[in-house]
Amino acid sequence: MSVIAVVGLATMGMNLARNLARNGFGVSIYNRTTSRVDDFMKQYGAEGAFTPAHTPQDLVAQLDKPRRILMMVKAGPPVDETIDHLAPHLEAGDILIDGGNSYFLDTVRRGKALEARGLRFIGTGVSGGEEGALLGPSIMPGGDRDAYQQVEPMLTMISAHVDGDPCCTYIGPGGAGHYVKMVHNGIEYADIQLIAEAYDLLTHALNLGAEDLSRIFSEWNKGDLESYLIQITSEVLAKRDRATGRPLVDVIVDEAEQKGTGKWASQSALDLGIPVTAITEAVFARSLSALKADRQLAARTLIGPNGGGKAPAPASLVDDVRSALYASKIVAYAQGFEEMQAASNENGWDLQLGAIARIWRGGCIIRARFLNRITDAYAAEGGIKNLLLVPYFRDAIASTQDAWRRVIGVAVERGIPVPAFSSSLAYYDAYRRERLPANLVQGLRDYFGAHTYRRIDRAGSFHTRWAQDGEEVPVR
Ligand code: 6PG
Repeated sequence: MSVIAVVGLATMGMNLARNLARNGFGVSIYNRTTSRVDDFMKQYGAEGAFTPAHTPQDLVAQLDKPRRILMMVKAGPPVDETIDHLAPHLEAGDILIDGGNSYFLDTVRRGKALEARGLRFIGTGVSGGEEGALLGPSIMPGGDRDAYQQVEPMLTMISAHVDGDPCCTYIGPGGAGHYVKMVHNGIEYADIQLIAEAYDLLTHALNLGAEDLSRIFSEWNKGDLESYLIQITSEVLAKRDRATGRPLVDVIVDEAEQKGTGKWASQSALDLGIPVTAITEAVFARSLSALKADRQLAARTLIGPNGGGKAPAPASLVDDVRSALYASKIVAYAQGFEEMQAASNENGWDLQLGAIARIWRGGCIIRARFLNRITDAYAAEGGIKNLLLVPYFRDAIASTQDAWRRVIGVAVERGIPVPAFSSSLAYYDAYRRERLPANLVQGLRDYFGAHTYRRIDRAGSFHTRWAQDGEEVPVR
């Protein structure tokens, strides 16, 4: 008998099954295209206590009760199809777990539908790519809490560990786990975009090649920026193409693809009214990159700056870009955490942001030294309004902001696009302003649409008959 099943044997499913088996759990494996089950057994069957299943009936017969089934199938309709395929064979109390990148509202819907059938559902984020799945991912489970207790020993054991702590914790009810994974991915998009902007800026402002940049990123990885993404950036930039001998990155087409999680994070932030500018700029930057044909035409038509200002000193620009990257990254994370707090309030999830920062320290794509600082901040004080206000981050930005501003100046002068750097700085400058020009926005709205405004010196709402007699009238 097996304690758990993995259904869906693409890379993530296979590696999670192997991870579970390596940790001593008996694992049943099943895939609707059953040849994959046989292939898996041939390739990895000897690694652990695997039991192959060729039908859902076989599968349920092999599992201890309550049955625990981890579905690792593509997000979207395949999850519903897999549920429909398995659920008729399950009994009350059995547990289905969706470990893909599902949209959180789909998870809410599936949880309710399964609950109505007496089944229990967990929607969990799993981050770390292929290697993480095999050696220890970061796991963000949400949904039925009692059901989670039944899989907690397995999920915590197979997750990454940092300082002895598992990178897995119960996130919250309903779609909370997938929501948090969605924000993780949004931050991943922002992180990647910021790295790409740093690469672009140094390439064009200093005429550096990929290998020079690889060394710079590798150096940066020794300081505050130390992270998985900075480390692999250095590796990607160092790689030479076997066919042409050129840096591989130089022969890769510059059109970024996306599967939707970053877009969902932005859409949800728009619904919540939380400005996640770095994530959203990163999504738009991918969209703009995909308009290759339009860009090719525009490149021949539109005119850039003349000259581009005084050439910056290479060493100081490199240092400045590192500072700009760090400051922008702080803003991106502060925004992502604000989004999670707002979603938690909206949905009554009681998200523990400190615990989320803690399980992102290892295993996941955005793992970084920096997450220790966020974890410490939440451990030191509750009720953090915005990470930018935490003394450590406040001081980090205070000491890097001049460099951040210089970098954006260089980019603007030279016509190098840095949407995530500059929108993060604009957010910082707007957030720290007590008075913004929204007073004029309100005045204009009131002028053309009688939308009313509030005054700084009196309670209530008012309308001015701007184009008529100029009188101000209180509005009820
Ligand atoms: C992870 C990643 C992963 C995600 C990819 C691709 O945490 O392991 O977030 O889940 O699917 O990064 O995302 P895009 O194709 O949208 O870039």
